[in-house]
Amino acid sequence: MTSDYVVQNRDFWNAYASDWVARGEAAWRSKTAYWGIWETPEAELGLLPEALNGAVAVELGCGTGYVSRWLELRGAEVVAIDVSQAQLATAQRLAQSFSSSIQFVRGNAETVMLPDQFADLVISEYGAALWCDPYRWLPKAARILKRGGQLVMYTNHPLSVVCLTADGEQVSERLSRSYFGLHKQDWTQLANEPGGVEFNLSLSNWLALFKANDLRLESLHEIRAPDQKVQAQFGVPWGWARDYPSELAFVLNRC
Ligand SMILES: C[S@@+](CC[C@H](N)C(=O)[O-])C[C@H]1O[C@@H](n2cnc3c(N)ncnc32)[C@H](O)[C@@H]1O
Repeated sequence: MTSDYVVQNRDFWNAYASDWVARGEAAWRSKTAYWGIWETPEAELGLLPEALNGAVAVELGCGTGYVSRWLELRGAEVVAIDVSQAQLATAQRLAQSFSSSIQFVRGNAETVMLPDQFADLVISEYGAALWCDPYRWLPKAARILKRGGQLVMYTNHPLSVVCLTADGEQVSERLSRSYFGLHKQDWTQLANEPGGVEFNLSLSNWLALFKANDLRLESLHEIRAPDQKVQAQFGVPWGWARDYPSELAFVLNRC
């Protein structure tokens, strides 16, 4: 059965897909990968294996598909999954114009139907990592990974979620919600610019969930805003993100 929040998030992304076209196109044009709201270069973070020749990669919540494109450029065969028809329409149009062979599939990352031990790499940058319940999507990601394969996930840092004001507008220096209580954040009822339903966990709960799913932590990256001042990104002031981590990435090995 599909959860209510999956339908809400699908509808949200269908409605807002047009706002993400330009960002997606720019990322498809880039031959090198960069991550998250501060566009931190892959060369700085090193989240991806150097060579992916012959590897099978799966992106969960691919949006406009640019992360999948960067994996394809490194030699991977890529299956990219997203729940939103409108986001996939952009991704497929871009794939065609870049002569890409990425296989796009419409589906829910929490109930992904791929075979066990299908992939060498599973990745999510603000896809399933943010919009799906970790207690549902992570076991699926672990199941489709080969032993020795990697899961790379990139999302908001739980500290930035704790510090996001109740109106959802801005990350501030005030703690606005419980850190230990983090799980589901429902932004659908906001008066101004309602959002979707997002998920995050305390660091210890992330780590416990990885362990329960045979995922061993290779590295944790707490992302800092760049040295040079830029404008606030998605409600995160640059100064805040110089002092505190606004995003994080986990690289995990499937044991
Ligand atoms: C912010 S985009 C992520 C893609 C890209 N990396 C980016 O940052 O733009 C979030 C994507 O997650 C997708 N998504 C949300 N819930 C999903 C689910 N249950 N299964 C698969 N995709 C989902 C949305 O449709 C949307 O395209």
